[in-house]
Amino acid sequence: MLGSVTRSAVLLLVLAFGLAACSGDDGSTNLSADPTSATTRATTTTSTTPPVPLVFSCPELPIGLGDSNLPATGNTGYDVAAYDLAFDFDIPALVSEPPFLEASATLSATATEPLTAFSLDLLGMDVESVTVDGTPVEWCRRDRELIVGPPFALNTGDGFSVRVDYSGNPTDAEGLFDEFTGVQRAPTGLFVVLEPDGAASLFPSNDHPRDPASFRVAVTAPSDLEVISVGRLVAETSDGDRTTTVWESTEPVATYLLPLAIGDFEIVELESNVDMTVYLYEGSDGIGDFVQQPAILEFFESLFGPYPNDRLGGIVVDVEASIALETQGIPTYSRDLSYEDVIAHEIAHQWFGNYIRLEDWSDIWLKEGLASFAQLLWAEHNYGLERYTRQINGLYGFLVEDPEAHPPGVPERDEMYTGSVYWRGAFTMVALRDLVGDEPVMDLLRAWIDTYGGGTATSADFLAMVDDRLGAEAFEMASAWLYDETIPPLEARGLEPVLGG
Ligand code: ARG
Ligand code: ZN
Repeated sequence: MLGSVTRSAVLLLVLAFGLAACSGDDGSTNLSADPTSATTRATTTTSTTPPVPLVFSCPELPIGLGDSNLPATGNTGYDVAAYDLAFDFDIPALVSEPPFLEASATLSATATEPLTAFSLDLLGMDVESVTVDGTPVEWCRRDRELIVGPPFALNTGDGFSVRVDYSGNPTDAEGLFDEFTGVQRAPTGLFVVLEPDGAASLFPSNDHPRDPASFRVAVTAPSDLEVISVGRLVAETSDGDRTTTVWESTEPVATYLLPLAIGDFEIVELESNVDMTVYLYEGSDGIGDFVQQPAILEFFESLFGPYPNDRLGGIVVDVEASIALETQGIPTYSRDLSYEDVIAHEIAHQWFGNYIRLEDWSDIWLKEGLASFAQLLWAEHNYGLERYTRQINGLYGFLVEDPEAHPPGVPERDEMYTGSVYWRGAFTMVALRDLVGDEPVMDLLRAWIDTYGGGTATSADFLAMVDDRLGAEAFEMASAWLYDETIPPLEARGLEPVLGG
């Protein structure tokens, strides 16, 4: 929610822009009115008509890309291929003090429509300068949008790079999804929970799972702290007090799945066919339930096919925040949520959510429900069918009595992380399994991954596949689990919505 203070601050900014007219507030020259740049561009382009330099007037662009639950996240008009991020963190010893970030972010993108301006998502932070293909350009800010005026109109298919230099306290961002979201301090450092809309508080981005990209993240921090981020560690350079650690992923990663943690960690390498480096906060009780990771991975690969990543680590931070997040290739756990069920859940997300991405946040059960189902399957595999049954009975009772019950298939914004999305979502699969048996249900999940892996999918895609592969009765049943006002019975288990009814 935007308070009136913030709103007037934004208005002031826009007004100040109108007055500042042709120079950025960093004092950079406005090249859009510079005829020499037009000449330069004209000689390097193959087009016969020289491009007309643009005059920037902070246009009103669409505020998002049309997500049903998070309408302000993401942007239209371009597709990001790569983020090159350089973070320089100052982390005060006092845990109550916010970290200060000086950063630059370079996005390599392609225009998907003709553009005379485009938006990036950025929340809080002070922007110092913006360049497009190396040329300083004008920009302005509205709410969570950083609106950029390229010097020349971009055509569909044009590649461009935009670099933003900025600084500030990322932990101070206002207007994030909930109190769990964003950059968070931990005793010796920080960590991030960027789901669902927190990436914009750390770097300018197209902050929506529809636009995943490769990442290079160079983090400068005190040399005695560990820096963990995405993909592979590619470089580490130190000048004594400060070390720059560079991580890189060529695999596409959705913005909310970027892992980042800085702090004192013990490093444990588990034996597996992928890199299984687990970072445990200093002073932890040790590896704990993470010893199960190789077995969980092996089990899920037997069900879902090859693990879609070259790394399966873990980051356990020294906070009690009841949060865990499936950050790509290396899930992040607060210490009170780093036990077996949760670990299995976050590993399953590497297929459900990370590999098959959400087209729309209102379809979130597709990742939370399926990861929760996978978590139940692991419990059954590791502890026997009785455990699966017991968990289902308990969770069904919880759902029946849930005062905030709602159908999981179309959650409102504030219902995205409810027990219904997770467990009634999972029971969609439990019910299908009860109806058709193991093999057809596992075949369905495998087909789901084969068909939509590497891209996005919707609930409609899922139901169409259920209809196609499992038939009309299964389709009706899954639809009822996802959309009926009251929770359906699990007849085969004698579970009904009215207790004793
Ligand atoms: N996807 C995470 C999980 O199920 C939960 C993220 C919740 N994020 C939030 N801002 N509430 O493991
Ligand atoms: Zn989850």
